[in-house]
Amino acid sequence: MIYIKMPDYEILLDDHGTGDLESEIKKVYTYDKLFVITDETVFSIYKDHLRETFKSFKIEYVTFPSGEESKSFDVYHDVIHQLIKKGIKRNHMIVAFGGGVVGDLAGFVAATLYRGIPFIQIPTTLLAMVDSSIGGKVGIDLIEGKNLIGSFYNPKLVYINPKYLDTLPKREYNNGLAEMIKAGLIGDKHLYHYLLHNDFVTIKEIQMAIQVKRDVVLIDPYDKKERMFLNFGHTFGHAIEAKHNYLVYKHGEAVSYGMIIALAIGVKLGETDQALYEEVKDLLIQRDLVKEPFMRAHDYLEQVKKDKKYIGDMLQFVIVPKVGVAKIIHITESELV
Ligand SMILES: NC(=O)c1ccc[n+]([C@@H]2O[C@H](COP(=O)([O-])OP(=O)(O)OC[C@H]3O[C@@H](n4cnc5c(N)ncnc54)[C@H](O)[C@@H]3O)[C@@H](O)[C@H]2O)c1
Repeated sequence: MIYIKMPDYEILLDDHGTGDLESEIKKVYTYDKLFVITDETVFSIYKDHLRETFKSFKIEYVTFPSGEESKSFDVYHDVIHQLIKKGIKRNHMIVAFGGGVVGDLAGFVAATLYRGIPFIQIPTTLLAMVDSSIGGKVGIDLIEGKNLIGSFYNPKLVYINPKYLDTLPKREYNNGLAEMIKAGLIGDKHLYHYLLHNDFVTIKEIQMAIQVKRDVVLIDPYDKKERMFLNFGHTFGHAIEAKHNYLVYKHGEAVSYGMIIALAIGVKLGETDQALYEEVKDLLIQRDLVKEPFMRAHDYLEQVKKDKKYIGDMLQFVIVPKVGVAKIIHITESELV
């Protein structure tokens, strides 16, 4: 087991069976009842596993349909009602078992019900392992946009076991690889070079990607400045997702197009080598994350202008001048296209 320390909890990376999970939970929780929140797809695959893994606990399950549409106020409301009906009290533990949708929604339920209930994140997608379960952001979407309601709320424990990836569809796996490629580009050249030559990851690379996010989050836990580095590829990524109503591209795919646009802007500004642009572009094509012809920045300008980082005709934007180094710049509309 690898333990990554956060200020008030630990991230556990376990490369074996889940046999030690119960004892790890018992280090942070003394009651005998767990409230597992998950989506229907994950529940159908892992129902028996959950019963087996948490055999010394009484478990109450709350499930909802899988997919981004469930990160809604209606599902939030429904989950809260179900938890109360099943007898949840303030000191009980919520377990968010699933991808980023489960983690964000269950985390927001935990942050708000009774003004805060302890919770544990057990991410089951690659994206959730390296990104959404790390950093304490929880929340839901509104029809006006994604993640508009939320809070910063840390779990008591994050438990990561790559065994859960065995059942993950390839497209979802690649979606996580996109965020790992981003992590390598902004903060770890060894991780980037591994991903350049390998289309699978082990616990070691998952740890490296988490470390990149952890280091940034520790400097800027409330997203005031340095956390912006994590947004590399996301300004246009979010715009691409929004313009296509979140139906066409997965988050990692949209971010991949966004990284290509951001690298092209870096090249245009004389900050990024053309060779790096070409290399990343080829890598993202090989991992089935993007296809040519690529989107052009100016087709997404209207969406980008709605970004909260677009203030007074200037956009706060992240470029990567070289592998492992990210830079925040302020850029005008004409420099973007
Ligand atoms: N909080 C943050 O800091 C943060 C960061 C990045 C992304 N996010 C959020 O994460 C969400 C996306 O997360 P995601 O990509 O994990 O999507 P997801 O949670 O929708 O999971 C993707 C699909 O994989 C299925 N699945 C999950 N685990 C599985 C497994 N082990 N085997 C088989 N199928 C499995 C799910 O049922 C779902 O259909 C978005 O809502 C995004 O906003 C949050």
